[in-house]
Amino acid sequence: MDMYRVVVIGAGEIANSHLEAIKTSSELKAVAVADIDAGRAQAVGRRFGVTPYTSYREMVEREQPDIAVVALPHHLHREAAVLAAEHGCHILLEKPMARNEAECDAIIRAAQQHRVTLMVGHTQHFKPENRKAKALMKTGALGRLVMVNDTRHLHYFREERPAWFLDKAKAGGGILMNLGVHSVDKLQWLTDSRVVRVKASVSHFGPRGDVEGSGLAYLETDSGVVATISQSGYKGAAKDETELIFTGGMLKLVSGKGLWMSDGGEYRRVEVEEEADPFALQFAALLAAIRTGSEPECSGAYGKSVVGVVEAMYRSHHLGAEVEVAQGRSAR
Ligand SMILES: NC(=O)c1ccc[n+]([C@@H]2O[C@H](COP(=O)([O-])OP(=O)(O)OC[C@H]3O[C@@H](n4cnc5c(N)ncnc54)[C@H](O)[C@@H]3O)[C@@H](O)[C@H]2O)c1
Repeated sequence: MDMYRVVVIGAGEIANSHLEAIKTSSELKAVAVADIDAGRAQAVGRRFGVTPYTSYREMVEREQPDIAVVALPHHLHREAAVLAAEHGCHILLEKPMARNEAECDAIIRAAQQHRVTLMVGHTQHFKPENRKAKALMKTGALGRLVMVNDTRHLHYFREERPAWFLDKAKAGGGILMNLGVHSVDKLQWLTDSRVVRVKASVSHFGPRGDVEGSGLAYLETDSGVVATISQSGYKGAAKDETELIFTGGMLKLVSGKGLWMSDGGEYRRVEVEEEADPFALQFAALLAAIRTGSEPECSGAYGKSVVGVVEAMYRSHHLGAEVEVAQGRSAR
């Protein structure tokens, strides 16, 4: 069996989830990690027994890995992903794919030109409760899906959040760009459709940084489903729920907690089978795509479609009007 040598670019919070998942795979071997913060690179290097670097360029050139995981601030996604592609590495690129569609296009072009597999880390596809909801939807038992309401509140401006997340030039946006992409992804993937129209309003009342602290959006998909996405990052009670309303019942996803269903009465809990860790499943999907030479479900075009919806939300707020999402279904 082939062993794929993996490097991780960025040794921050999410790098650990990737390296833990790699440890559980018999087909992947983590060899190195790079972070501009030498102490962090060394600590992660020690923890996972991989070589630390402070320059990801040097790491990629020296290690010649098969796969590069890009887990950097958003403004560096394009640069690092293009570099990886130029060195013939397959890429697992953290969400959001990049700060805007133009950067997504540059990444897609580089992956195509160098014939490497590009997958965007839309982890929602690998969470067991989400997979169960999608499987239940496929049975058609709840009738026709008519609308989706997705709500997330969390203290986005908490002290521990790295400053780059609150700097629009680096992050590309605030709570919508960072966490709204999960909601847009969930909506598009669960409903097997693409958002084609958006009306949104955002606010900028955060105590630091220059990114939005909340966003409320009304969205329409090409399958005729309507949805709301409500995100807020000011102080308050945490919540992360998606309700799907059908003609014959309702589903409620509570992130990390489970899935509930109603076919007329009160919600009752749906049993969700235990599965491998979402990050391990994500790597399995990447490996399957590499082996078969096929596009992964979370392809570059898909990642771009999600970023395009967030950009449309910002455009709608700026114009004070409903806007079309340019790429729509063609981004599949
Ligand atoms: N899939 C998920 O559920 C999930 C969860 C958290 C974060 N993310 C995504 O993962 C990515 C990273 O987020 P994070 O929370 O780990 O951020 P983080 O700030 O904890 O980590 C980013 C790391 O990149 C390093 N870095 C910055 N510039 C660098 C450079 N030029 N060269 C090398 N290293 C550099 C920083 O020092 C830092 O250690 C983002 O795209 C984020 O949106 C995804």
